[in-house]
Amino acid sequence: MRLQLLATAVGFAAALALGGGAAHAQQPPASDATAQVERQQAQPGNNAPLWRDVRSGQPGYTTVRGVETGVLVESRGQTYREARVPVAFWGGILVAVALAGLALFYLVRGPMDVKEAGGGRMIRRFSNADRYAHWLMAITWVVLAVTGLIMSFGKDVLLPVIGYTLFAWLAVLSKNLHNFAGPILIVAVPWMFIQYIRDNGIGAEDFKWFANIFGYFRGHEYPSHRFNAGEKLVFWLILVILTTILVVTGLILNFPNLGQTRATMQNANLIHMIASYVAIALAAVHIYLGTIGVTGAYRAMRDGHVTETWAEHHHRRWYEDVRAGKARQKFAEPGEAAGGAGSAAARTQTS
Ligand code: HEM
Repeated sequence: MRLQLLATAVGFAAALALGGGAAHAQQPPASDATAQVERQQAQPGNNAPLWRDVRSGQPGYTTVRGVETGVLVESRGQTYREARVPVAFWGGILVAVALAGLALFYLVRGPMDVKEAGGGRMIRRFSNADRYAHWLMAITWVVLAVTGLIMSFGKDVLLPVIGYTLFAWLAVLSKNLHNFAGPILIVAVPWMFIQYIRDNGIGAEDFKWFANIFGYFRGHEYPSHRFNAGEKLVFWLILVILTTILVVTGLILNFPNLGQTRATMQNANLIHMIASYVAIALAAVHIYLGTIGVTGAYRAMRDGHVTETWAEHHHRRWYEDVRAGKARQKFAEPGEAAGGAGSAAARTQTS
């Protein structure tokens, strides 16, 4: 393969330098061709002028149609290759620090519980459409995150542990899953946006919530509406900004036949990497809080219901609105929620 490439390169470059071939999209500067001829006489085998010409980025002649097909070697690619290394390194550190920080936090703080009195009513917090949109997004997103991390760091982290055979399978599987799962977000992002935008407006109260962030972790939450400021950050930063950036740059990379140049793809790749590492670190916090971090939160997204006590503790303003009949979400009908607030199922979820 390398030999073939080299042969093509030399042939291409010779055509450039010596004026061979039927026609040229653009003639190389005469000085380069002359320099190569002179160099061949002075130092036979020294092709430096020829390669300088190839690396100049000037398009040569080719019968292959397409964007930049006449440019054999794009020297800017080297700069891009060098930029990837620190981006991946610091991105990896960021993701590792986020995961280690969450593990440490769990060991020190444990799950955030609410004392469930029992006997209260259940509230339907999420409609079916809310939940289906969220799970389409969450499952697709997690598949993309895991396969993306395998492609980014698998060679350094997994290969030494699982060996070449297994890693080769895993890498191919990851690449294909990543390429096919990505476009699902074209549907999932707008669907999530439509389902959740109504309760994610930002106001002065959200800044106060952040000012009291330590109270949140100590169990004295600043009262919030349906979503607190941390959740709004998930909505705006992870979903709207970062995931949209990932979709756009991902499509540029997934479909190289859309007419984009190599430089565009290199930029898209770097932006895709940066956005993904930041988004994965932030999403890890969200997933932690939505599963083992805040008891009872996962149930809300699994079957749509929360207990009154949970709602009052975590989203007091919203709870007051539900009680006053001002919120779109209502108390569940008797028997509607799987196990009531006083049931063993609800107690294990919320206390
Ligand atoms: C395994 C992965 C995930 C789990 C377990 C999970 C869990 C949850 C849970 C339990 C809630 C409800 C919280 C509440 O009742 O207040 C929630 C809400 C939400 N999640 Fe996830 N989630 C996951 C992945 C994601 C991803 C990848 C995104 C975005 C890219 C996302 C975006 C949201 C949004 C926007 C909300 C509503 C909060 C708001 O609109 O401000 N989730 N999630």
